[in-house]
Amino acid sequence: SGALKPMPIPQSGILPAASAHGLFVMLRRRLGRRIDDALRSMLAAIPDRIDNVALEAPETLTLGVVGIGANTWADLFGEARPQWLRGFPRISGAIHPAPSTDVDLLLHLRGERCDLLYELGERLVVDLAEWFDPVETTACFRYREGRDLTGFVEGTENPVGDERATVALVGEEDAAWAGGSYVHIQRYVHRMNEWQKLPVKQQEAVIGRTKESDEELSDDDKPLTAHVRRVEIEQDGEELEILRQSMPYGTPGGEKGLLFASYCKTPVNFEKMLARMVSPTADGRVDHLLNYTRAVSGAAFFVPSREALASLAK
Ligand code: HEM
Repeated sequence: SGALKPMPIPQSGILPAASAHGLFVMLRRRLGRRIDDALRSMLAAIPDRIDNVALEAPETLTLGVVGIGANTWADLFGEARPQWLRGFPRISGAIHPAPSTDVDLLLHLRGERCDLLYELGERLVVDLAEWFDPVETTACFRYREGRDLTGFVEGTENPVGDERATVALVGEEDAAWAGGSYVHIQRYVHRMNEWQKLPVKQQEAVIGRTKESDEELSDDDKPLTAHVRRVEIEQDGEELEILRQSMPYGTPGGEKGLLFASYCKTPVNFEKMLARMVSPTADGRVDHLLNYTRAVSGAAFFVPSREALASLAK
C-alpha cells in the first residue's frame, strides 16, 4: 500500500502547444438509437486512430480529443462518473448571450495538415453516424503569430511547462478519473466591421493588452471592463487558471470569429470567468469585448483519460 499509481495518460489533444489547424465537431445523439457495445468499442478506439495518423506522418503532429457530455455519460459508462460532470452553465443575470447547445459528443482534432484532419474527421463522423449527427463543425486555422481575428495575440497567458497538466488534468482529488479534463466550447462570431472602426487605443482598452507588442496594460490603463480583468479571478491568494486551446475560423464575406476551447481539472474556473464576462451581478461590469463578438453555441464535455476511454471496450 502507499505505492503511487502512475498518472493515467491524457488524450493527446489537450496539453501540446497550439497547432496550425483545428477541426471541432460537436455531435448529437440520434433519437431512438440505443447505445450499445459496438459504439463503446468504436469510441474506445478513437485515440488509437488519431495516433495512427500521427505515426504514419509524424511531421503532421496530429492530435485529438473525444469528449462526452453529461447527458450521455451514464448510458456509456454506467453509474461511475467524474465528480463535477455537468452541462454548460446557465448564468443568472446575464446580459450577453451564452447559449447552451444540445450536443452529446465532441471531436477536437488538430495538427499541421488540414487535409489529414478532414480525412480523419470524415471517417470518424461516418463511423459514428449510426448513433450521432454532427450539429456544428468548425474548421480553424492559426492566424499569423497566434492572433485572434481581432488582431490581438491570443493564448499568451496560458500556463506553460508542467503547469499545463496541473491546470488541465484531473488529479488525485478524483482519482478514478485522473488524467481526464473538463472542456468547454463556445463559438464566437465577431462583428468585424464595428471592431475595425474602433481606434487601436480603444481596442487595447477592450482587451487589456497592447495590440502589436502584446503587453499587458498598466492597472491605470486597464478598465474593469477589459477582457483580461474580467477573467482574472483571485481565490485564496491564487489566480484561477484554465488551459485555452481556442482557434480562429472564418470565410471571406462570411461568419468569422474564435472557436473558444478551455480545458481544466474543474468546470468551476470557466464557469466563474464566463459569469464575470456576461453578468453584471458581481461588480456591475461586464466584458466590453462582448460588444464586438457574441457566442452562438456553447457546450461542456468530459475528456476521459486514455485508460478510462479504453475501458469502454471491455
Ligand atoms: C486572455 C481573446 C473569450 C478567458 C485573452 C487575451 C485575448 C483574448 C486577446 C489576451 C492574451 C492571452 O493571455 O491570451 C479572447 C476572445 C474571446 C475570448 C477574442 C472570445 C471571442 C474568453 C472566454 C474566457 C476567456 C469565454 C473564459 C470564460 C481568458 C483568460 C485569459 C484570456 C483566462 C488570460 C488572462 C490573464 O491571465 O491575463 N483572451 N478571449 N477568454 N482569456 Fe480570452
